Amino acid sequence: MKDLKYYLKKAKEEKWAIPQFNFSTIEQLKAIINVSYKLKTPVILGTSEGEASYLGMEEIVSLVKISKNKYKIPLFLNLDHGKNLDLIKKAIFLGYDSVHFDGSSFSLTENIKITRELIKIAHKKNILVEGEIGSIKGESQLSSKKIKILKQDLTSVSDVEKFVKETKVDSLAVSIGNIHGVYKKMPKLDLKLLKDIKKISKNFLVLHGGSGIENKEIKKVIREGIVKINFNTEIRIIWKNSLRKYLKNKNEFKPYKILNLVQNDIEKKLEEKVYLLNSNNKL
Ligand code: 13P
Repeated sequence: MKDLKYYLKKAKEEKWAIPQFNFSTIEQLKAIINVSYKLKTPVILGTSEGEASYLGMEEIVSLVKISKNKYKIPLFLNLDHGKNLDLIKKAIFLGYDSVHFDGSSFSLTENIKITRELIKIAHKKNILVEGEIGSIKGESQLSSKKIKILKQDLTSVSDVEKFVKETKVDSLAVSIGNIHGVYKKMPKLDLKLLKDIKKISKNFLVLHGGSGIENKEIKKVIREGIVKINFNTEIRIIWKNSLRKYLKNKNEFKPYKILNLVQNDIEKKLEEKVYLLNSNNKL
């Protein structure tokens, strides 16, 4: 079966994007798998450190591996926003397909040093590394608060130049006005900044914070070279709202019946995103 790098290259050449869907429950995982199978799309299954710890990394790796072989679909696992180096190394050791090192709180020099160290370990096992330049604000939640992005949060083009040259990182997460979560007022994306980053970086460019961004903006960033877009909050919102709705049926006690309905609702949302990113029929 083809690896993640193959699909990222294909997406880059053909100008579409691979969705990363985060999950932490079995019905979310099943929804992602079903959509990948149904729409013939490669998908990246994202787990943050918290999401991975909740389900268990070993369990996650086994479940994804079994599903990948059973359905013959390109499912790839990514550790999202890895900050704890032991956990990142564990993901590499267990067989995640890629790891994202979030070095946004470090100085550029330190970020480069750690990213290089991780790449050395990961590449021996054919695992990709996603680096990050700039700071992506917000949390994957629905919030009535406003969020302010400062100039220093945005990706610096000169930092990218140094970072990609010295690390040879596979993918790069950028901060161009994107935030995690769905906030009262969503910031505007800086497409000019994305163009400038694209000019000096041959890496696979990644957009975090896919939830809440207007469809036309998503299409624009794909045209400008983004090849992977992460979604979490919108999946969490559906999960919570659906579960609440179906639990109101006082006569139903079977978890698999209730959760199957939740799963169906999640699938609809994921399908929407797959069509938006145009990653369907790409196997
Ligand atoms: P959203 O929660 O805004 O979709 O962002 C998810 C994400 O970027 C995970 O890394």
